[in-house]
Amino acid sequence: MGCFFHVAAMLGMVAAVAAAPPAALQQQAPPQLALQPSSHTCPPPVVPGATAASPRTCTFRNLYLWRGRAHYVAEGEPPDLSKLGLDFELGRPVTAPRVGPDSFLETVTSARFAELLHSGGAGAARPDRFPLVYFWRAYPVMPDRAGGATCDAASPLPRVSNYYHLLSESTTILSATLCEQFGHCNQYANRSAPRIVDVRPSAQFVCHRNERYPPYFQEALACFSGHPLRHINGSTLRDRLTLVDTAWMGLGPRCRGSVSGCYQAGGPRLPPTPGLMAAWRATLGQCFGFDPGAAAPLRPVRLLVVDRLYESGRSILNIDSVLRALRSRFSPQQVQLRMEYMEGLTIRQQAQLFSQATAVVHVHGATAGNYVFLPRGAVALHLAPVEHKWSPSFSVKLARDLAGVSDIEVHTWANPDASRLHVVQPVVAFTAARRPQLGALLANE
Ligand SMILES: *[C@@H]1O[C@H](CO)[C@@H](O)[C@H](O)[C@H]1NC(C)=O
Ligand SMILES: *[C@@H]1O[C@H](CO)[C@@H](O)[C@H](O)[C@H]1NC(C)=O
Repeated sequence: MGCFFHVAAMLGMVAAVAAAPPAALQQQAPPQLALQPSSHTCPPPVVPGATAASPRTCTFRNLYLWRGRAHYVAEGEPPDLSKLGLDFELGRPVTAPRVGPDSFLETVTSARFAELLHSGGAGAARPDRFPLVYFWRAYPVMPDRAGGATCDAASPLPRVSNYYHLLSESTTILSATLCEQFGHCNQYANRSAPRIVDVRPSAQFVCHRNERYPPYFQEALACFSGHPLRHINGSTLRDRLTLVDTAWMGLGPRCRGSVSGCYQAGGPRLPPTPGLMAAWRATLGQCFGFDPGAAAPLRPVRLLVVDRLYESGRSILNIDSVLRALRSRFSPQQVQLRMEYMEGLTIRQQAQLFSQATAVVHVHGATAGNYVFLPRGAVALHLAPVEHKWSPSFSVKLARDLAGVSDIEVHTWANPDASRLHVVQPVVAFTAARRPQLGALLANE
């Protein structure tokens, strides 16, 4: 990065020039802003199996947050940040071009930045200091399904988001990145150290800019950072010049779940290890108050049946028949039966219910996000009315990634009989209506 003394001296001069008040005002002269030059290091990936094409991470020093961007103050030739191999986006195919930091991270000369600050009214303001920030693209939150509604303080929650994908993919990968790339493993006790700043582009994602995250976002992120999730262009950070001492950036090579093209044999992304999954689960255990070492109870067996509200399209239509059948088949000494709705519960409340269950029966959907809370050796029964539409792969992959950690077992029951549908879903009706008659199929053979 050249000669630091020289750069620092120059930055001081530039700031002094930019901030110099007219002679008449000399006495009230505000303190001059001495800009710290930025720098970065991007160690080569040391993860076994990583290739030159694998996503990597970088550590930056002295970035300035201002007006929705992070500024990299460079003298001389600015580094080409798009060449660093950083990636921020989970839901993109492996083959698609990387989404780099370009949209929020900008290189500027100190002269230009001093000018920007001056014209923006922050010429000599002493910056706030954030010791440590991880820059993260939060899982998308949309105003509504059409994407047209506003997403401001007056509009009601919840927005369109996804509990399963946030909890069991996004935060899992966040945890793996912090642990493997930055040595910040299972640091619940130390969660006051890092802040998480959302860098999802704010032009399209107005809910992000307005920090209208569903409550479970903040609750899940609070396991990793003791500071609320903020957007880089949100009302808290946007107009406050902030110096970030250490900035961690990029997703590590680990990926998990059904994220589009997450990882394939020989591809640039890698699966998580049991150690990383265990560190994630241990953090959640401390955060939500369950013992990750506990085994599923057997005497009695505790059976949790999760039903959902009718409006969710995932309710069990014959829930009464199911509960009656279970009660007549098993005595309370054998099976303690509990039926619950997750809607309206905090993650902590859901974690309490799941961590005490031997087995859980649920319709395909967000409930799978709670598998991580199941005790060792527990069983999940995943009800999927139309197997190819309601893919069991979310459940199956999560069970696979928890092998050697909590060793849960997942079974999928599909009921494709259109005359005896047990859930209400437009897609089921649609599929049933278009199902060819068996006779017609046979006639075509
Ligand atoms: C930040 O949000 C404002 C609107 O509140 C918008 O005008 C501006 O372009 C955004 N800045 C960035 C860097 O996205
Ligand atoms: C807390 O986290 C920071 C950042 O990872 C690290 O430098 C520090 O050593 C951690 N402290 C403890 C007590 O683990």
